[in-house]
Amino acid sequence: MKRKVAILGATGAVGQRFIELLQGHPWFDIEVLAASERSAGKKFSEACKWRLESEMPKEIGDMPVVNTTLKEVKEASNVDFVFSALPGNIAGPIETEFAAEFPVVSKASAHRMEADVPLIIPEVNPEHLGLIPIQKKNRGWNGFISTDPNCSTIQLAITLKALSRFGVKRLIVSTMQALSGAGYPGVASLDIIDNVVPFISGEEEKMESETRKILGTFDGKQVQPANMTISASCHRVNVKDGHLEAVYVELEQKPSVDEFKAALRNFVGEPQKLKLPSAPEKPIIVREEVDRPQPRFDRDAGKGMSIVVGRVRSDSIMTFKYLCLGHNTIRGAAGAGILSAELMAAKKLI
Ligand SMILES: NC(=O)c1ccc[n+]([C@@H]2O[C@H](COP(=O)([O-])OP(=O)(O)OC[C@H]3O[C@@H](n4cnc5c(N)ncnc54)[C@H](OP(=O)(O)O)[C@@H]3O)[C@@H](O)[C@H]2O)c1
Repeated sequence: MKRKVAILGATGAVGQRFIELLQGHPWFDIEVLAASERSAGKKFSEACKWRLESEMPKEIGDMPVVNTTLKEVKEASNVDFVFSALPGNIAGPIETEFAAEFPVVSKASAHRMEADVPLIIPEVNPEHLGLIPIQKKNRGWNGFISTDPNCSTIQLAITLKALSRFGVKRLIVSTMQALSGAGYPGVASLDIIDNVVPFISGEEEKMESETRKILGTFDGKQVQPANMTISASCHRVNVKDGHLEAVYVELEQKPSVDEFKAALRNFVGEPQKLKLPSAPEKPIIVREEVDRPQPRFDRDAGKGMSIVVGRVRSDSIMTFKYLCLGHNTIRGAAGAGILSAELMAAKKLI
């Protein structure tokens, strides 16, 4: 039987992607749409300014939007679990309220760095789901919170996991991040036309701390962060979707360029082995053209779930440098949440 889900923040940039990607999903059905009190009480089609190229599904447009409280979501219908696409600054107490009763799969930053909360990329650290029983016991909840990383962190961490066999010592990453990463309406048009904004609040700190947690070791009780030094510089560019990142990595070993590319190209994780519905066949695609990856041409690779790597070169200061590209609202957001939920369903956690 399909699991019924509520989407919190359903009218936002990420909420809309959740709706789009859940159409025809084999395991999950959308049951409740929740947003702020500005939207509550309206039909979804009246509350939501649909910003995707696909049409808003008619049956979704006809659904009511409810307020994002446990009481109102429960009154609307029975659900099995909740996707949260709420703004980071308000998600904390709302997700806590829901987790007392439901599994919460969250795209928000509020709980990511809490010691008993998993920060999951299904291909990278599925074993960190072992924190869930610990969290439920610690907090006395029937449900739990599992989080997905920041969009720019996800694509980086997938490549680093593939490279972990060579021992990653330290890295520098410089991002060129798409506008949809700031939600809607996001960055004011006059700030970004003919421009690059060299600051995204909190982003560099998130890339540095989240990456170490994701690549850390779960010892059965807690996650010991990975021992690597990371320096991130984050920038907003005039691109609709798709974050591009220039990565300079120092490794303990010195593989050849071909071995380095093969490690990326051949990388698969548990979602591929379990054949989860949203798992891309290839988590990482390596391109050989000198001018790829590019956001416009490569962001939809693997239905937006593959990371595209290119321009792999040896580096005179670090060991290698490369570029990686990911679709920020699919692999970086809603697609990541759905894949995490699929993994949890496969492991009977939801
Ligand atoms: N955009 C990305 O690429 C991306 C990637 C990874 C993670 N994230 C994270 O995902 C989350 C959502 O981002 P987004 O880009 O979708 O933001 P967004 O477009 O601004 O959407 C925010 C959503 O939250 C609702 N909301 C706002 N204030 C609320 C309140 N006080 N109570 C209840 N609901 C409220 C909004 O409802 P109304 O329409 O009623 O205002 C809307 O549905 C954020 O935590 C963000 O950091 C985003």
